Amino acid sequence: MLDNWATSFGMWERAKQSLGGGVSSGLRLAMKPHPLYFDRANGSKMWDVDGHVYTDYVLGWGPVILGHCDPDVTSAVQRQVQTAVTFGAQHPLEYLVAEKVLSHLKFAERLLYSNTGSEAVQIAIRLARAVTGRYKILKFIGHYHGWSDQILVSYRPSPHNSSVHGESTGQSSKAYEDVLVVHWNDISEVERIFQEHASELAAVIAEPVLGNSGVIEPIDGFLGRLRELASRYGAVLIFDEVITGYRIGISGASQRYGVSPDLVTLGKAIANGFPLSVVAGRAEIVDQVYKQGVVHAGSFNGNPVVLAACLATLNKLEQPHVFTSIDDRTRQLQTGLREIFRRNRIPATVNAVTGMVQLLPGVESSVDYRDYAKVNWEMYNELTVLLLSEGQFVMPGGRLYVSLSHTVEDISETLQAFERSVSKIANKT
Ligand SMILES: Cc1ncc(COP(=O)(O)O)c(C=O)c1O
Repeated sequence: MLDNWATSFGMWERAKQSLGGGVSSGLRLAMKPHPLYFDRANGSKMWDVDGHVYTDYVLGWGPVILGHCDPDVTSAVQRQVQTAVTFGAQHPLEYLVAEKVLSHLKFAERLLYSNTGSEAVQIAIRLARAVTGRYKILKFIGHYHGWSDQILVSYRPSPHNSSVHGESTGQSSKAYEDVLVVHWNDISEVERIFQEHASELAAVIAEPVLGNSGVIEPIDGFLGRLRELASRYGAVLIFDEVITGYRIGISGASQRYGVSPDLVTLGKAIANGFPLSVVAGRAEIVDQVYKQGVVHAGSFNGNPVVLAACLATLNKLEQPHVFTSIDDRTRQLQTGLREIFRRNRIPATVNAVTGMVQLLPGVESSVDYRDYAKVNWEMYNELTVLLLSEGQFVMPGGRLYVSLSHTVEDISETLQAFERSVSKIANKT
């Protein structure tokens, strides 16, 4: 049993004197009992500064699809670092990676590089507005598309607030006055919005699997209906696959559900932990960056080190067994968790798609964000600390990411740790 994180706590106290909140991304402050410090990661494991080893289900909040320090990615990066770190000019990896990414997206002819998912979403929205000459964007409540002022809305509203809701103090409401929101999987509301705003709607943006609020798949026909409505009313359909791209499959959700968007945003797992994002789509839309004056820029765009990491990652993800193996481990975890909660008589929903599992203690089913908001988060947070003590590193918010490095034994050990932790909670209540 692990029982303390004193060195981590001391480091966090020190960091707070120089770094806002002592963390590099605000969401990491939600980690219980406090943010931990790590000094090494390999495969499915991470080692913290107090000498504990964990099986990692955070995986960098999604990017580490192959496992930490994949040897092929590491060698590709090492070779590139010795050659050149940046050019500020063109180099062959730019088109080699672009060709590879596009070869897996049948609807896309061109792409643009950026560094983070937030940036990719920014340019996707700008392209959609430029090509339609319209400004309104329809998004779904509980979906996250990055932290920019224009789209950080209605991500964590109070459960019954279905009006547009900014998420950050200091955020300009003018930036999101063109955003409309509806609940995920509510097709009649989507139809109403399309009818009411037919001539104003530039785009509808969605995580095709609602990864950020419950790993909730689209109900049958939902994505297809979005496609039909967007085409009928001349709006751009954007799939934000920053989580699902390269996690649920090499061609992401568009292939899994058989629905092609006009634009897709990709990030996280695309380079196994190196910062790269992409927006891809039809040439007519993407080429506006040089034909129609759409501004897209960035000093680090197309960075050769990051593209070398991406190429090595995608080469590996193309191997046939990869996603079957990730899916098998995912299902092992999902099935085991369902059993554990059932045996301990705690109501819970356990959702999963390839590479990610979502635990929702306290709710019996999930269709949209309102179900996610009903989760017993106090119980879940208590569970995360018990799991840390058992050498299991999990995220706040109930999502567990699975990588190619996770073995059958890793998952079995994790399930045993869950069994002990959940039964402790069950015996208290
Ligand atoms: C679906 C989705 N889109 C966009 C983003 C923003 O990506 P980034 O954190 O790289 O800016 C995220 C981040 O979690 C995401 O989950």
